[in-house]
Amino acid sequence: MLDDLIGKITCADCIDILKQLPDKCIDCFFSDIPYRISQGGCSTTSAFGTKNKWQNNPEKLELYKKGKIFTENDIEPSEYLPDIYRIMKDKAHGYIMVNSSNLKNTIQQIEDANFIINNILVMKKNNCVTNQWYMKDIEFTIFFRKGGAKPLNNCGIKSCLSVIMPKDKIHETQKPVEYVQTLIGNSTQENDLVLDCFSGSGTTAVACHNLHRRFICIEKDPEYWKASCERLEQEQRQQTLF
Ligand SMILES: C[S@@+](CC[C@H](N)C(=O)[O-])C[C@H]1O[C@@H](n2cnc3c(N)ncnc32)[C@H](O)[C@@H]1O
Repeated sequence: MLDDLIGKITCADCIDILKQLPDKCIDCFFSDIPYRISQGGCSTTSAFGTKNKWQNNPEKLELYKKGKIFTENDIEPSEYLPDIYRIMKDKAHGYIMVNSSNLKNTIQQIEDANFIINNILVMKKNNCVTNQWYMKDIEFTIFFRKGGAKPLNNCGIKSCLSVIMPKDKIHETQKPVEYVQTLIGNSTQENDLVLDCFSGSGTTAVACHNLHRRFICIEKDPEYWKASCERLEQEQRQQTLF
């Protein structure tokens, strides 16, 4: 089972896959988790940064009104974190990306699953939208571990990193590869096994490919899954050419 999943993005509900993975097989967990969003009270705000994009897409507008950016975002961390704890190796590092509204609740659920919080990291974006409670120009990454402490490869990396957000996105919440690469690269060694069970556009898979880390990526939405597989293949082809 494990071997069949390594090095590819699997289209499935992560809950089903996690149950089948053996204990202590994962060297690092990295996920930008799904959660409900709120509009922030400003009529010109949207997850895409432009109001018009929502207005021209009735389906997306309907989802957004229900607190969703994409279809699959109903899962709670408490549903998968116990299994993540079981399958992570002792001392392994984990990273979970969230926005400010979900930070407190997610930290609580990470601690409830017996993990130890190492730090809260900040990703400072080059773009953002207006908001009645200040502009949302940062996102958070909860950095945690299972059990005893293991040092980072490079202790000179700042906890607040500025990023350029991707322009040609295939996913509404696509993250910059460089950011994911920095964190995974700092917590793992070559050939280590990284898990992302909410893979979206496949950013973690691309980062692991660049870093020569093995990966298991899972995405439930067939459209994102297909687009992310194509993205990964394209990256792999480009690197073979040069
Ligand atoms: C916040 S997005 C991840 C975006 C990603 N970081 C990127 O750079 O593209 C979360 C993803 O989790 C997926 N998802 C939600 N529930 C899931 C589940 N139970 N199993 C697998 N994937 C799921 C959603 O379809 C969505 O694409």
